[in-house]
Amino acid sequence: MKIFEEIESEVQSYARSFPRIFNMAKMEHLYDEDGTQYLDFLAGAGTLNYGHNNPLFKPLLLEYIENDGITHGLDLHTKAKAEFLETFNEKILKPRNLNYVMQFTGPTGTNAVEAALKLARNITGRENIISFTNGFHGVSLGALAATGNSHHRGAAGVSLSGVSRMPFDGYLGDEIDTTAYLDKVLSDSSSGIDLPAAIIVETVQGEGGINAASFEWLRNLEQVCRKHDILLIVDDIQAGCGRTGTFFSFEEAGIKPDMVTLSKSLGGYGLPFAVVLFSPELDQWKPGEHNGTFRGNNFAFVTAKAAIDHYWSDDKFSNEIKLKGEYITQRLNEIVEKYGEGNFTTCGRGMFQGINCVNGELAGKITKTAFKNGLIIETSGADDHIVKLLCPLVISLENLKAGIDIIEQAIKTVCDNEQKIPEDSDYFDDVKMAS
Ligand SMILES: Cc1ncc(COP(=O)(O)O)c(C=O)c1O
Repeated sequence: MKIFEEIESEVQSYARSFPRIFNMAKMEHLYDEDGTQYLDFLAGAGTLNYGHNNPLFKPLLLEYIENDGITHGLDLHTKAKAEFLETFNEKILKPRNLNYVMQFTGPTGTNAVEAALKLARNITGRENIISFTNGFHGVSLGALAATGNSHHRGAAGVSLSGVSRMPFDGYLGDEIDTTAYLDKVLSDSSSGIDLPAAIIVETVQGEGGINAASFEWLRNLEQVCRKHDILLIVDDIQAGCGRTGTFFSFEEAGIKPDMVTLSKSLGGYGLPFAVVLFSPELDQWKPGEHNGTFRGNNFAFVTAKAAIDHYWSDDKFSNEIKLKGEYITQRLNEIVEKYGEGNFTTCGRGMFQGINCVNGELAGKITKTAFKNGLIIETSGADDHIVKLLCPLVISLENLKAGIDIIEQAIKTVCDNEQKIPEDSDYFDDVKMAS
């Protein structure tokens, strides 16, 4: 561990929660250098929907490398890119009746968000963007302006401008439809909210606490966008690629966003890869106007295509995710009923669910205890108060059950000890050391 303390920046985050040296990974398991096995319910923060080193894609990637396939090609046309585009169009876009062109951006999610916001502003000639409370869209300055979290915003060092915040679904209580407020301020020329170029939204807010917007709210949001001639951007970087049960998280709501950002699991293998999809009439970029050295990752083209071919050629995988999602819902409901003295609630949908533990300290103790018992799981939300289940979608039912058993046991241990252990006890600090 010494080298990490000596040389690696203090900015590390996940490494602090899981202080091990990891050395190997296979589907839903990670292994540290001592060979200890961990179930991975973090899955690269939603990047490993198809697991680590998925054996269906690995040989194709190895073969591509073995044959000296193009590794880096700027935005040159490559065979791997052509095959990916073909597959994405035939198996993802066309069956969903979506007519989009694809822009390859720099390789991380925030690059895709930057491109989408820039394009929306250029097309409409408007500066303002509307984003939502607890939204997370990345930490480069443009995307950060649309992100709610004060910890991240505080690091900007400059004012974060050009974005107005509106209440997300449920922010003002279940009874209030916040799109009505949105419509009101957009209809009122004295509301102080400038007509925006676009509204950017996550259908399920990941980093912001697994807050799932209702389908009705999303449909209302789309209507508000149409009424006021505003572009609708769905940031599907975390909720997309099957996480909620369908390839795009907005499918069940029946909406058609003008733009969609995708990254994380799109590459299939954990390789850096990000895109923006938008309607052809919005494709008003001039050549090279928005660029980047790493646009389109050829290794990721190979594995992204393989992931679509294998998992998205029919409904089988989608149905499997829905069934696993139902199992998660059932187990989490049982757990919140049993523990947390009526204070805990569940949140999310599909395989994107969590337990709201009300306070971050409690949630942190639960994830630490779970880690001691071999489960890698993180918290999210404004106060890190949500225990966030983000296991690979391909996880076996047996391991899904085993992981949730560990969570349940951890909650039981923590809730029992909350009563017994004095506040200044170092029990939970020791958890880390004992494992
Ligand atoms: C919805 C959403 N958008 C954007 C991002 C930023 O992606 P990246 O961290 O790859 O820049 C994230 C990352 O968690 C995200 O969840």
